[in-house]
Amino acid sequence: MAVCTKDIDLAVAALNRGELIAIPTETVYGLAAKATLPEAVEQIFKVKKRPVTNPLILHFQDLNAALPYIDKPFEDVLSLAGRFWPGPLTLLLPKTKLVPDIITAGYDRVAIRVPAHPMALTLLKRLKAPVAAPSANPSGYISPTLPSHVENQLGDKISLILDGGSCTRGIESTILGWDTSKQPVIYRSGSITAEEIALALGKAVKILDSEGKKTEAPGMLSKHYAPKNVTLVTDNIEAAIKLHKDKKLGVIRAMPNANKTTVYKELILSKNGKLEEIAKNLYAAMHKMDSLNPDLIIIETVPQEGIGIAINDKLKRAASFK
Ligand code: TXA
Ligand code: MG
Repeated sequence: MAVCTKDIDLAVAALNRGELIAIPTETVYGLAAKATLPEAVEQIFKVKKRPVTNPLILHFQDLNAALPYIDKPFEDVLSLAGRFWPGPLTLLLPKTKLVPDIITAGYDRVAIRVPAHPMALTLLKRLKAPVAAPSANPSGYISPTLPSHVENQLGDKISLILDGGSCTRGIESTILGWDTSKQPVIYRSGSITAEEIALALGKAVKILDSEGKKTEAPGMLSKHYAPKNVTLVTDNIEAAIKLHKDKKLGVIRAMPNANKTTVYKELILSKNGKLEEIAKNLYAAMHKMDSLNPDLIIIETVPQEGIGIAINDKLKRAASFK
């Protein structure tokens, strides 16, 4: 069992000793190591059973702290950092020699962000170093948005969980980089939408969503964010329930439905279908449903707009049937 605490100094001391800890961010809990200690960073891959070819995000207290690690930030970078940091936007940027190879899996770009969680920011200030932190789940499984999720999945493998409560955004950061003609590209849809980024930059943003493909974002798995139990993702939830009515069904609905259906367990993500609320509650509902071991988990997709694009993308990867 890991110690679960709100004491930031205990967390800083553990990081300085080269231990792995879980830290809260506004998106999901991160499995953190002090980035300047390569042996600690190596442990992240072991504990998560993550391929070493899959690079890690570096977290900083602010843009200034990140500058020595990135090669000549251009105007787009400065405007996005100014507009969205601290916040759920990860930027893929040319790295300097200060970034250890193990962080970037040998690639020439490093992923960086400034998390918008007061405890994470205080921790980074006191540590006076960046932390490398992927989501604090075993590779491929659902990301954690509560300390209990981390404890259940990794509690026997890490020393400490810094308890920052429930993550307010609930899904991962958006990952943005630039192609060779300096056009902004989203490699992973997340909490910040393409429209918000396009508005901030005054130019169009391409959505590539390469997570899972072997392109600019290497090592990413297409089966990801997935429950252990068989999971069906559908835009016609009533039809799916009807079709599988003889099974012990675990149904996760985006919002309440008018017609009554009796199933083994039903969870509602938002009373009024608000996409931000659905994002915030999604992973906790998936964890809860998975722990109940239904024969089949059925999850409803959401409208493909705004943050709904990222929610549907996570759901697609959670599905057992593609
Ligand atoms: O919201 C988040 O981003 C959370 C919190 C903890 O900050 N972190 C997170 O990390 O989602 P992780 O490792 O679970 O997902 C990061 C993704 C991975 O798919 C990885 O392949 C990609 O970012 N990535 C990281 N560094 C990269 C790099 N240098 N080049 C390409 N892709 C990179
Ligand atoms: Mg992850």
